[in-house]
Amino acid sequence: MEFSIKSGSPEKQRTACVVVGVYENRKLSLAAELLDNASGGYLQEIIKRGDLDGKPGSTLMLHRVPGTACERVLLIGLGKEKTFREKEFNRALRAATKALNDANLADASLFLTELPVKKRDSAWRIRQAASVVSETSYRFDRFKSKLDDARPGLRRLVLIVDRRNELPAAEEALQQGLAIAAGTTLARDLGNLPPNICHPTYLAEQARQLASEFKLDCEILERADMEALGMHSLLAVARGSQQPPKLIVLHYRGGAAQDKPIVLVGKGITFDTGGISLKPGAEMDEMKYDMCGAAGVIGTLRAVAGMQLPINLTIVVPATENMPDGNATRPGDIVTSLSGQTIEILNTDAEGRLILCDALTYSQRFEPDTVIDVATLTGACVVALGQVASGLFANDDHLARELLDAGEEADDRAWQMPLWEDYQDLLKSPFADMANIGGRWGGAITAACFLARFTKEYRWAHLDIAGTAWKSGADKGATGRPVPLLTHYLMRCAGKLN
Ligand code: BES
Ligand code: MN
Ligand code: ZN
Repeated sequence: MEFSIKSGSPEKQRTACVVVGVYENRKLSLAAELLDNASGGYLQEIIKRGDLDGKPGSTLMLHRVPGTACERVLLIGLGKEKTFREKEFNRALRAATKALNDANLADASLFLTELPVKKRDSAWRIRQAASVVSETSYRFDRFKSKLDDARPGLRRLVLIVDRRNELPAAEEALQQGLAIAAGTTLARDLGNLPPNICHPTYLAEQARQLASEFKLDCEILERADMEALGMHSLLAVARGSQQPPKLIVLHYRGGAAQDKPIVLVGKGITFDTGGISLKPGAEMDEMKYDMCGAAGVIGTLRAVAGMQLPINLTIVVPATENMPDGNATRPGDIVTSLSGQTIEILNTDAEGRLILCDALTYSQRFEPDTVIDVATLTGACVVALGQVASGLFANDDHLARELLDAGEEADDRAWQMPLWEDYQDLLKSPFADMANIGGRWGGAITAACFLARFTKEYRWAHLDIAGTAWKSGADKGATGRPVPLLTHYLMRCAGKLN
């Protein structure tokens, strides 16, 4: 879809469709009121008749409204004016996008971007509109030999701002929104790809392509490199797989040479069978999403490079499958991690932390300002927070706050959980420096506590996205989270948000 920005009045738009909002209790938004005046009260009349009640997410398409230059007017229910906030704004955008795509129109002008949203400026509304409309139009049909719906959907969308002097800021916000959408889409595509295609070598290939497209530095460490370095924890997970493991590193340098980089580390298990501690069969296909941490940091890099943020950003992706095999790691095996600490692997299904710990130690060499890892790490996190919030852990409260705020702003929320020393006891092993599991209770926390043993040298946060990275059920698929959260955090670091 093509986006552009204009200012202008709704009745004068020569487009296939003008989109305006209507609150509950027959309260028109400003743009709807202008249309109503131009049409001699036509909109009010229809609303009075009860054709649209203004309930959030409801829509009504009108044709040839008198006194207007457009072919159609799409009314979007906004809910109560008093409670119209970020969530309701996004919901209205999604409803509008669905209706416009269903109608398969060549172009439309969206006046929803003029709606006041408490605490949010026009740039936020434009950014959000560009990313939400793109994301709602997302389809993954690469493997369908016949499309369910082959029509192209909406082709061009004009976002409207109230005043001409807002245009330059809105233009930048549009580019930011589109970059976020491109990053989120990339993350969703990688997540949705089947595990026979999206294996570690494929991820490495994608990283190389991104590097050449955006002029990034790219290093790929092979099994032999990991052996030479002593990444025996990562290698322990890769032992059972026929697919060679990769450690993918990409550097984006948009800041000054002396600026320390922010490092994002993403769990890249391209399929998690559990290994010898084999998972039960039901829904095991969903373990193709166990690389959504990797997809999230690759997508975030894509967004940051797309909007050319003036920061230095490095991503590190440990990528491997977790398979059972005669050569696979056994429960009870002890390995020495890159950090020198020894680990007794009591459960081969707790593999995410085993690949992350070596990647986190490796990240130290980039002298990071901050390190954030992202992982579909524990089922326990899904039990705790469901599919609404990602689990957030941090060894620095200021960093935690910034990430929570970024999640609010991006409608990609996280919730902080404790990393207290009390939990560390659960990881004791009689034979090694630690075990890789902490027993029955507090599984998301003990997993984070395990990682905390490898991140003492820098400011660090961990996002457990096991519940938020994909949806099950009818609209099954990768969500692209937490690309919006991370990108907003990085935009703030770069001074690009008000
Ligand atoms: N990839 C899984 C976590 C997961 C489970 C994500 C379900 C999404 C949905 C992870 O590797 C895993 O298997 N974790 C175990 C840890 C346990 C063995 C301590 C889990 O959560 O059961
Ligand atoms: Mn596992
Ligand atoms: Zn896993």
